[in-house]
Amino acid sequence: MLKICVCVSGGGTNLQAIIDGIADGTITNTQIVGVISNNKNAYALERAAAHSIPAACVSPKDFEDRAQFYDALLEKVKSYQPDLVVLAGFLVNVPEAMIREYKNRIINIHPSLIPSFCGVGYYGLKVHEAVLQRGVKVTGATVHVVDEGMDTGRILFQKAVSVEEGDTPKMLQQRVMEQAEWILLPKAINKIANGELLSE
Ligand code: GAR
Repeated sequence: MLKICVCVSGGGTNLQAIIDGIADGTITNTQIVGVISNNKNAYALERAAAHSIPAACVSPKDFEDRAQFYDALLEKVKSYQPDLVVLAGFLVNVPEAMIREYKNRIINIHPSLIPSFCGVGYYGLKVHEAVLQRGVKVTGATVHVVDEGMDTGRILFQKAVSVEEGDTPKMLQQRVMEQAEWILLPKAINKIANGELLSE
């Protein structure tokens, strides 16, 4: 059984896709052992509560400096003893100590086709705003392993999504989620849980 800790910051639709995937058998051999949010108002926390999944908020606002926040975050992750950490809309730079502790055991979903529209400043709706501003016709989502860089780790899955005439950032975000994110992230977790992706 793959024990996963899911880190979130906001609405938690990707968390929901994981919960649903486990319930409907799209994801097998997997248990969510904890959900961590950096934002106490994240709706994702309510999703966890609704499914009786242990959840906690570790907010930078509750600590004097970044180092203390990072220590608390890592301690909270470790307390759940996960085999895999899943960043599902987690809009915090992952501390280096956590990357060392969970080398090749952290994955992230990013709402673009990396290496386009990724790195510093590209997160959430900002990615889709930039896509529309640049006028590209195809975007998508990427699941990748998290390393020390920003969105630079090994790519596991990508899926392309069309940009349509008249799209707003929110419309595009919704399409990328529906057609790519909510499919790719459960698929990646299922493969990892069944020994196919990160077994090296
Ligand atoms: C998702 O689109 C996810 O790909 C993105 O934040 C959104 C969270 O939505 N993540 C990033 O931008 C990471 N760089 P959700 O809370 O509804 O899952």
